[in-house]
Amino acid sequence: MLDNENCMKVLFVCLGNICRSPLAEAIFNQKVLDTGHSQDISADSCGTANYHIGQVPDHRTIEVAHRNNVQIDHLGRQLSADNFRNYDYIIVMDKSNLYDTLALKPENSNAEVRLMRDFDPEPGDGEVPDPYYGGEDGFQHVFNILDRSIDAFLKRNMTSPA
Ligand code: 4NP
Repeated sequence: MLDNENCMKVLFVCLGNICRSPLAEAIFNQKVLDTGHSQDISADSCGTANYHIGQVPDHRTIEVAHRNNVQIDHLGRQLSADNFRNYDYIIVMDKSNLYDTLALKPENSNAEVRLMRDFDPEPGDGEVPDPYYGGEDGFQHVFNILDRSIDAFLKRNMTSPA
């Protein structure tokens, strides 16, 4: 997280913060780094639940990131009401995350809370599926959804070239 006042700050939110949102954070920050925009925009992630606070991402999350040449480095943390003051966008993975996130949102917050698949050119059912109880394939499927949704988000929000 950068302290630059003009830096756009994005927070990705899922349930456990060990599968979808840390992967979204890693893909996002890798793209921002690769395109020379690290001074302009930054991302972090957290979970609505407290199950995995302080834990590294699920080993399947780390494997799919590395297979796709994305660096991943995150420790689990839980969403708090304070986060609504510090982030411009709070991007959630599914409708249950949306419900839980909006329930914590202070009335005076200007943070924009959106579903990740609002940005997906192939939005499907509008949710990033939870891969936790499935197999390895589910993690690559989630990676592909996040990759193209984040590309579309960045294209929309990064108006100036690197
Ligand atoms: P995530 O996946 O929300 O994408 O991090 C999950 C991780 C852990 C659990 C559920 C979903 N859990 O029940 O522990």
